[in-house]
Amino acid sequence: MRVLLPDLPEFRALSQHDEHGVPGVTFDHYRRGHLPDGEADGVVLWLTDAATRTALLATPGLKWVLTLTAGIEHVQAHLPPGAALFNASRLHDRAVAVHALSGMLAASRGLHRFRDAQRRHHWDAPALPGDSALTTLDGATVVLWGHGHIGRNLEELLAPHGAHVRGIRSTTPEGERDEMLAQADWVVLLLPSTPDTRGIVNAATLRGLKRGAWLVNVGRGNLVVTDDLLNALNSGQLGGAILDVTDPEPLPDGHPLWDQPNVILTPHIASTTTDLVARGAHLTRDFLIDLQQGHEPDGRVTAGRTY
Ligand code: GLV
Repeated sequence: MRVLLPDLPEFRALSQHDEHGVPGVTFDHYRRGHLPDGEADGVVLWLTDAATRTALLATPGLKWVLTLTAGIEHVQAHLPPGAALFNASRLHDRAVAVHALSGMLAASRGLHRFRDAQRRHHWDAPALPGDSALTTLDGATVVLWGHGHIGRNLEELLAPHGAHVRGIRSTTPEGERDEMLAQADWVVLLLPSTPDTRGIVNAATLRGLKRGAWLVNVGRGNLVVTDDLLNALNSGQLGGAILDVTDPEPLPDGHPLWDQPNVILTPHIASTTTDLVARGAHLTRDFLIDLQQGHEPDGRVTAGRTY
């Protein structure tokens, strides 16, 4: 089996003849501007640019593609016919859940306001229009829109905070979904970006929320219609938003989201941890060993992906 891997020391270690290696697999490594020639059985995609990714997906002979991301929309359009696609939600689920919870706790305690006041050397920070007073998550209704790996982790993390957690899945009837959204103090977007989910949070969705609810987006920027989000933030319909992803992304200079006092922005780093690359290599090793032993590895993406 010949496999193409990112050119990083953690992935080079997979060729070693020790406990890090995977015997019986030939590896070649790619980086931006350098693609190994010839056929390969599989490619592990990660941390590369769109042009390199597209070229890798055109490698002759590919039987499978493993993307070490949770999202797959960047791969699907160029997937060779007949190649199986696998993703790696489990690599990211804990950190993304921790990130969402951290944002919710920070916002509940007004840390964004106090940090802004600190920059101005002001001791106190008045509540923002539409912002609630300092709270905890005790008794809060949290609706997780998308209830896969990350949702289950977040639900577990929220339990000791006394929040009431409800999950929306793609099978949840629309009426039931809207009822849940109307009761939410927090709506957390954990959806993949698909033709069905793009723009799913729009003016009508935001109007249907409880006034002052907060939105957390750790899914994809294009789930939300940004102009509608800005209107809801400015009118006080939304108490605030925690955004790890935006549309456009990255935000260009002068974009109105930069200056929203009730928005906490992070640059698409919800799943980042210092050991992420090592964990990605480890997951790749387990994946290859499963394949070699004739087991179905975790993470196969099937047609009509849901949440
Ligand atoms: C990150 O956004 C991912 O899809 O892994």
